[in-house]
Amino acid sequence: PLDHLDSVWLFGYGSLIYKADFPYLQRKPACIYGWQRRFWQGSHDHRGTPEAPGRVLTLIEAPGERCAGMAYQVTPQTFTHLDHREKNGYLRFFTELHWQDEPGQTAGLVYLASADNEAYLGPDSDAAIAAHIAVSAGPSGPNSEYLLQLAAALRELGEHDEHVFAIERELLNLLA
Ligand code: BEZ
Repeated sequence: PLDHLDSVWLFGYGSLIYKADFPYLQRKPACIYGWQRRFWQGSHDHRGTPEAPGRVLTLIEAPGERCAGMAYQVTPQTFTHLDHREKNGYLRFFTELHWQDEPGQTAGLVYLASADNEAYLGPDSDAAIAAHIAVSAGPSGPNSEYLLQLAAALRELGEHDEHVFAIERELLNLLA
């Protein structure tokens, strides 16, 4: 269904911020309005296993809030490839992306795991989420690496995300 387009913008708010293992035409810091990232999705296939799912990000609706990330311009073919990989409960939707470093916006695709997917874990305390992340690992590596790399990438973007940074603090306390 995307094949009639020359290129597609994909907005990453999780691992896509720091890791793009696919070809892209260009990438630019961007944000979306009305959403916030949360470690509320279970990961059976990347940062956990079916028996012991890890915790990864999804988006929740949050009127008035903003979620910063990285946008990648890719061909529809690249996108189809990514789409096959990112299953585990994620759907995609089109929304407005706003550039971080220049005026303007474009339509872009975002992956979202909603509360009704079977891998969904939902909210918990920062400490409980950190404890869960500390002991989880999957084919893509330790769950803690995902959290720490994400937090570092957000800092590099100049972003403060209290949900991510609070869970990172709890994790670092556990590891200390
Ligand atoms: C992201 O980084 O935006 C992302 C990556 C994989 C699945 C869902 C979201």
